[in-house]
Amino acid sequence: MILVTGGAGFIGANFILDWIAAVGEPVVNLDKLTYAGNLENLAALEGDARHIFVRDDICARATVDALLAQHRPRAIVHFAAESHVDRSIHGPGEFMRTNVEGTFTLLEAARAYWGGLAGAERENFRFLHVSTDEVYGSLGPKDPPFAETNPYEPNSPYSASKAASDHLVRAWHHTYGLPVVTTNCSNNYGPFQFPEKLIPLVMANALAGKPLPIYGDGMNVRDWLYVGDHCAAIRTVLAGGRVGETYNVGGWNEMPNLTIVKTICALLDEMKPDAGGRYERLVTFVADRPGHDRRYAIDARKIERELGWRPAETFETGIRKTVRWYLEHQDWVAHVQSGAYREWVRKNYGDRE
Ligand code: NAD
Ligand code: TYD
Repeated sequence: MILVTGGAGFIGANFILDWIAAVGEPVVNLDKLTYAGNLENLAALEGDARHIFVRDDICARATVDALLAQHRPRAIVHFAAESHVDRSIHGPGEFMRTNVEGTFTLLEAARAYWGGLAGAERENFRFLHVSTDEVYGSLGPKDPPFAETNPYEPNSPYSASKAASDHLVRAWHHTYGLPVVTTNCSNNYGPFQFPEKLIPLVMANALAGKPLPIYGDGMNVRDWLYVGDHCAAIRTVLAGGRVGETYNVGGWNEMPNLTIVKTICALLDEMKPDAGGRYERLVTFVADRPGHDRRYAIDARKIERELGWRPAETFETGIRKTVRWYLEHQDWVAHVQSGAYREWVRKNYGDRE
């Protein structure tokens, strides 16, 4: 079996659903269930013995040790993190604790566990660290996309904490020989994404007739990847990635935020027309995010060359699926828009207009 951390969050839950369907191997899912963790994401696995859920913190070393001793996983796939840049600006402490100290705790537990393995078990064990393209910093308009060899230049508390965790993972390989592999992926979108991130936020606000907040001039560029493609990339890297290597994962799909928002509005006009007029009327420019990175782009040639992975979805097919999913899962959206969510919206957007 494998141990997944953060499996009740957006990408982790998609990964577990995909893993059980594609591989069928049991998963132990260690997740603290912060505001971003939601077991409803895994409702399809209720009663399925292949998914074992454990609610705890990745910083709880005794729990991690006990899980490794009891289940003897062949791999750890580490998603658990604080993941939202705006929250990291309002309160960086939790990002340092979970992303840095949590990764350190997992690495130490993995090192002790792996040190006690022998033969094929030891040979085949992997620690797969899921990271982000944001560690590379911001690109100018004409710069080539991020390659694995780009220097790390993180600019937000979030990306700095992820960069720190990447460095720890690298060091545990070089110093202790721990068989690690790291993936650095671009912006994901798809089912179960918490509506604090751009794409689900825009859908939720549009359907509620609320303003669609665009930071700055809306011309910041991100590369967008459908979450199912990211899950497939992680499976591919786990199966064949070279130990100690990093792999950039991206969608070959750079777009300015304003284009993303207008695309969603046009799809909503088509699938759920609003009597009040076109959704684009709700676009509202608001104060920019401090330190807002201008452009991210990913050169994903290494993972394609070495492991044969390429995204299956285009942005057109992926965003259409995603809009449909949100329209069909309005109950899920309503459940996650709890009191704590409303408080966050007040805090982040209250003084931007
Ligand atoms: P998310 O915020 O949706 O989910 C994070 C999950 O981790 C939640 O279930 C939460 O409960 C859990 N968690 C948080 N702190 C924990 C702790 N201390 N102990 C145990 N569990 C804890 O995040 P996501 O978007 O699914 O991202 C998953 C991973 O992928 C992160 O490491 C993130 O940096 C990385 N990543 C995300 C994106 C993206 O676009 N979302 C892109 C590239 C990389
Ligand atoms: P986000 O989904 O927070 O991802 P990240 O900051 O990790 O890339 O934001 C994606 C882009 O959208 C980013 O450039 C910030 C911008 N954005 C807005 O313009 N308005 C919003 O309300 C949010 C949440 C993001």
